[in-house]
Amino acid sequence: MPQDMHGLAITTSSPEAAAAFDRTLRSYLNFRIDAREHLTAMVKADPEFALGQCLKGYLTMLLYKQAAAPAAAAAAAEARRFAPGATARERMHVDALEAWLADDMPRTTQIWEAILAEYPTDALALRLAHYVYFWTGRAPDMLASAERVRPKWSRELPGYGALLASLCFAHEELGNYAEAEPLGREAVEIDPTDLWGTHAVAHVMEMQGRHGEGIDWLASLERHWEPGNNIRHHLWWHRALYHYERREFDTVLALYDKEFRNLDSPLTKMQPDFIIDVQNAASMLFRLERQGVDAGRRWAEIADKAETRIGDCLSPFTLPHWMMALAATGRADAARRAIEGMEAFASGAGSTAATVRRVALPVCKAVLAHRRGEHTAALGLLRPVIAETQRLGGSHAQHDVLRQMFLDSAVHAGRADDVKAVLGLVAHYPAPVDRRVGYAEAARQFSH
Ligand SMILES: [Fe+2]
Repeated sequence: MPQDMHGLAITTSSPEAAAAFDRTLRSYLNFRIDAREHLTAMVKADPEFALGQCLKGYLTMLLYKQAAAPAAAAAAAEARRFAPGATARERMHVDALEAWLADDMPRTTQIWEAILAEYPTDALALRLAHYVYFWTGRAPDMLASAERVRPKWSRELPGYGALLASLCFAHEELGNYAEAEPLGREAVEIDPTDLWGTHAVAHVMEMQGRHGEGIDWLASLERHWEPGNNIRHHLWWHRALYHYERREFDTVLALYDKEFRNLDSPLTKMQPDFIIDVQNAASMLFRLERQGVDAGRRWAEIADKAETRIGDCLSPFTLPHWMMALAATGRADAARRAIEGMEAFASGAGSTAATVRRVALPVCKAVLAHRRGEHTAALGLLRPVIAETQRLGGSHAQHDVLRQMFLDSAVHAGRADDVKAVLGLVAHYPAPVDRRVGYAEAARQFSH
């Protein structure tokens, strides 16, 4: 029986499909743009390869896009059709994909963990669990999952860097910065094109307020980003965040236009509404506007895409970003329809539906109220959820924009108690609040 690059049995009669499976997995682990190319070759070589069809379904689900869900469901159906001839591990993957499609995220991650308990070197289950924990706000599970399999991994195994990078990012999100940094550095040492390791170390530097070092870190590695997928944009966004903290707003805008929201770049053209790209763009414009920087016409193109994604709630953390663009461009009717779309989605029984109902909806309504200058209303909506927005998925660095919105409304409404509450939340991070661009003024004003 053929085996994958980790020696795990795979059920395909085609050596080409087996080789393309490894190439796809490698690409996926390393955030490479050619993953889809390898995937297509794999499915073409053996359409009856159940785990291959499952991988196709997984990578499609990772787009977090409703319009792509039918393609993921079709791949899952093919995987199910050929699952009876597959191994127990492969069949578990098919179960996990089906659970994901059914919006049962606890069951999805349980299945991946069950796979890892028996096959700790299943890098696909490991990275999917890591990523889905991240997008469902489960940082402790990100760490526990990777730590459980760590003893079974060694530097000789392909994808070891992916494990190190995942451990680094998990530690970083839990605030264990000293543990995190060497792990990410080791991943990048093994392979300077390790984009997840590069990214995780950038997070450590962001949270510790090491802006100059962060700029140097990313600048020293950017020549390796060429084969990367849209994570390249996110790395540029991180670079821009350092400049933002240094009040170098012209540089931030230049990076916005030339790098992380360059509408003419092949990556953006391929996926103009990719969720992380939209998060990068909208959250940066929001931060810049708070500093009196004119966003110009930049909101409009995001709002155009937001209109095409009304009712698509698969990525809860993206919802407030779509709403920022609709609100900033005064598209009241589209914003109303977006809220209605979320309410309809939130009435579902799934776990993402519950997150949209409990967290995304009030946050999105607050985004609208904040833009209208209805700050008391915005605070009323945000106050119950501001400490748990992490449930939407996303990092501390990304969630900062929601805290800044809360702070802005608190300052405008003259609510010292709310200002203090949000400054207290942010004070848990190592970068001192009174030196951070988004907080310094409020910290000074309300320090007495
Ligand atoms: Fe990030």
